[in-house]
Amino acid sequence: MAMEYTEQVLDHFMNPRNVGEIEDASGVGTVGNAKCGDIMKMYIKVENDVIVDVKFKTFGCGAAIATSSRATEMVKGLTLDEALKITNKAVADSLGGLPPVKMHCSVLAEEALHAAIQDYKDKLERGENPDAGEEIKYV
Ligand code: FES
Repeated sequence: MAMEYTEQVLDHFMNPRNVGEIEDASGVGTVGNAKCGDIMKMYIKVENDVIVDVKFKTFGCGAAIATSSRATEMVKGLTLDEALKITNKAVADSLGGLPPVKMHCSVLAEEALHAAIQDYKDKLERGENPDAGEEIKYV
C-alpha cells in the first residue's frame, strides 16, 4: 500500500528550505536516528539569544527532509527557549501530519536542533564566543 503524504510534506521534500551549512555557526548538532540509522546535522547562528539563521544537511528519507525543512522555518527568529519548545509533533502537524510509520523521521530535526543549541551553550560556558558574527572591539 502506498504511503499518503500531504501536499505540504511533498512541497518541503521537493523544495527543501534552509539546506546547507553555516560556516561561522554558533552551534552545530549532529544526531543519528536510532530506528533507521539516518543522520542529521543542524547549524544555528545565534545573536542576542535569538536564532537568526539555521541550516541543515541530512542523510535521511523524504519525511526527514520535509520535517527538517519545516522545522528550520519554524525556529528561525525564535529565542533559544522558544525554539526548544517546538516538538517534532508540532512540526509534523504543521505539515498536515505524517504517516504513523514515518513519525520517527521527524525526531531527527528536533534532536539535531537541541544538540546544536546545547553545543552553543557549551561554547558559552567554556568562555568561547560562538557569536562569531559580532565584532570584537579592543579599546
Ligand atoms: Fe530514517 Fe526516515 S527512514 S529518517
